[in-house]
Amino acid sequence: MPPITELIVNGTRQRVEAEPETPLLSVLRDDLGLTGTKYGCGEGQCGACTVLIDGVAARSCITRLSSAAGKRVTTIEGIAAHGGLAPIQEAFLRAGAMQCGFCTAGMIVASAGLLARSPNATEEEIRQSLEGNVCRCGTYPRIVAAVRMATRMKLAAHREEARHA
Ligand code: FES
Ligand code: FES
Repeated sequence: MPPITELIVNGTRQRVEAEPETPLLSVLRDDLGLTGTKYGCGEGQCGACTVLIDGVAARSCITRLSSAAGKRVTTIEGIAAHGGLAPIQEAFLRAGAMQCGFCTAGMIVASAGLLARSPNATEEEIRQSLEGNVCRCGTYPRIVAAVRMATRMKLAAHREEARHA
């Protein structure tokens, strides 16, 4: 019998029975039913499978389950806050930053990781942070515009919170 690995996925503790070398992407999609994370190249080259592990963007297709043991994994399903869209999701919608949508979950998760550590990320930082995420539809300008919009939305939200504090 495969061993049990514990990890925290989108805030919920999960116990997964699978071989330690199983790709995290397979565990998320096949064992936990979280199919928002996409399988693109399967070789760490496209970013479609991006998740956050303890807040840091990682390619789940080349991350072994054992590497995620005991850690916090955030998938696209865990990005939305309190049942509504997170600012980064809202910004992607407003900017029309998707065509086929296949890269979108990975782009949003990678962007969420960037904004968590750098809420005022510059365009240069955004480009650098997303350069390993491939969009075969070529939607890059709108994606960058969406992430820039999200930085402004977060800033406005913080100002509003401060006003009511
Ligand atoms: Fe993981 Fe392409 S599917 S990087
Ligand atoms: Fe189609 Fe990016 S919107 S791959």
